[in-house]
Amino acid sequence: SESGCLSIVVLGASGDLAKKKTFPALFHLFQQGFLQSGEVHIFGYARSDISDDGLRERIRGYLKGASDEVISEFLQLIKYVSGSYNSSEGFELLNKTIAEHENSKSNKPGSSRRLFYLALPPSVYPSVCKMIRSYCMNPSSNDGWTRVIVEKPFGKDLDSAEELSAQLGELFNEQQLYRIDHYLGKELVQNLLVLRFANRLFLPLWNRDNIANVQIVFREDFGTEGRGGYFDQYGIIRDIIQNHLLQVFCLVAMEKPVSLKPEHIRDEKVKVLQSVTPINHDEVVLGQYDGYKDDSTVPDDSNTPTFASLVLRVHNERWEGVPFILKAGKALNNRKAEIRVQFKDAPGDIFKCKKQGRNEFVIRLQPSEAMYMKLTVKKPGLEMATEQSELDLSYGLRYQDVKIPEAYERLILDTIRGDQQHFVRRDELRAAWEIFTPLLHDIDAGKLKALPYKPGTRGPSEADELSKRMGYVQTHGYVWIPPTLS
Ligand code: BG6
Repeated sequence: SESGCLSIVVLGASGDLAKKKTFPALFHLFQQGFLQSGEVHIFGYARSDISDDGLRERIRGYLKGASDEVISEFLQLIKYVSGSYNSSEGFELLNKTIAEHENSKSNKPGSSRRLFYLALPPSVYPSVCKMIRSYCMNPSSNDGWTRVIVEKPFGKDLDSAEELSAQLGELFNEQQLYRIDHYLGKELVQNLLVLRFANRLFLPLWNRDNIANVQIVFREDFGTEGRGGYFDQYGIIRDIIQNHLLQVFCLVAMEKPVSLKPEHIRDEKVKVLQSVTPINHDEVVLGQYDGYKDDSTVPDDSNTPTFASLVLRVHNERWEGVPFILKAGKALNNRKAEIRVQFKDAPGDIFKCKKQGRNEFVIRLQPSEAMYMKLTVKKPGLEMATEQSELDLSYGLRYQDVKIPEAYERLILDTIRGDQQHFVRRDELRAAWEIFTPLLHDIDAGKLKALPYKPGTRGPSEADELSKRMGYVQTHGYVWIPPTLS
């Protein structure tokens, strides 16, 4: 429906996020025909004094899976503008450069659309947004648009987040602001709504009558290498749990939205967040891996957790009494993210199969996207014995010809299309901070200590004890093996 010039401005163009995520995502969109030359221009903005080609060469190495010609064709769409993040000169120059391209004759006629991607530390958001608002807005008031994408961390606690929201809110309205949480762009996270609300099978089961506990787990097998300075200011709860895992939690726990309209979905997310009761400190385990403090940018007495497992409880009709265990850790024994919905035991068991384990529905977000349901079956053979097996939907096998898009690719496309469903609304952000702020303040004040754990392990054993205490029954002797193509 929209036509005309689209200008995508990446601020912080020579930084890590831009090189590793933003430009590769734009490249994939270009490859799939979503960004056409003559219609789309990409501008990199940063402080370094480099040329267009200088920026292109910095990006080139991060673009994969295409011929040199295609990569060069994409890189030719990118122009570089150098300037500071708080001076009018830089942004006036940026505006002039954008306008020149918008007015060039080779463009298709239509309105001007301007997308600003802030691949920057949040400390400069207010000044950069002020500059964009003052100098770089889409020139026509009734045609086209200006949209701004921002990345977490959105503050450090409730007050600082609210302050940032207020500052940005004075400059842009909510329809112009896209707060990215890239977990919302992952294929299996996007599948949660369909899974829950389009399948008769799950509708009657998804509640406290049948579900014993839910775990939402994020594990990484590397530490904070090179990011210690940033990480130490935030810690694992702000880095992963308060945003990524909490978004997943919302989609698992929320009620059915009135419709698929973004506002209807986000209304339900806010509601379930508001139903979460204060976190009980007895249901929190924190850890810090040995060696974390060797990083010269991390203070020697740091109590910042690199691991946390904590329990959220939802005070409503559906979930009363069901613990949601959110767990995240760095420098663990493997890398994966998954949701585990564990069902209660089958009553009146005649098979004595209790020791085999419970029904568990596992949604593997990454790597090797999959969903599988752990079931008890008769062990094939002459004996009447039971064993734990599974119904398995592994994407690599079932969708062999499909390339699953990158989260950032999808979310940038959503922004161009004006779809805010997979972005965090201001009141949602506020509700998220309300849940974690008291705990975070107590950790910052040293009232809860991070337990040491060895890198390459499961984290502190106290976390496994916590899960057990919450009623999680681990299945022994069962391992899910991702099926491979023969
Ligand atoms: C980022 C965190 O938001 O997400 C990182 O800041 C983390 O610490 C990353 O490594 C994980 O993202 P993904 O998509 O690799 O699971």
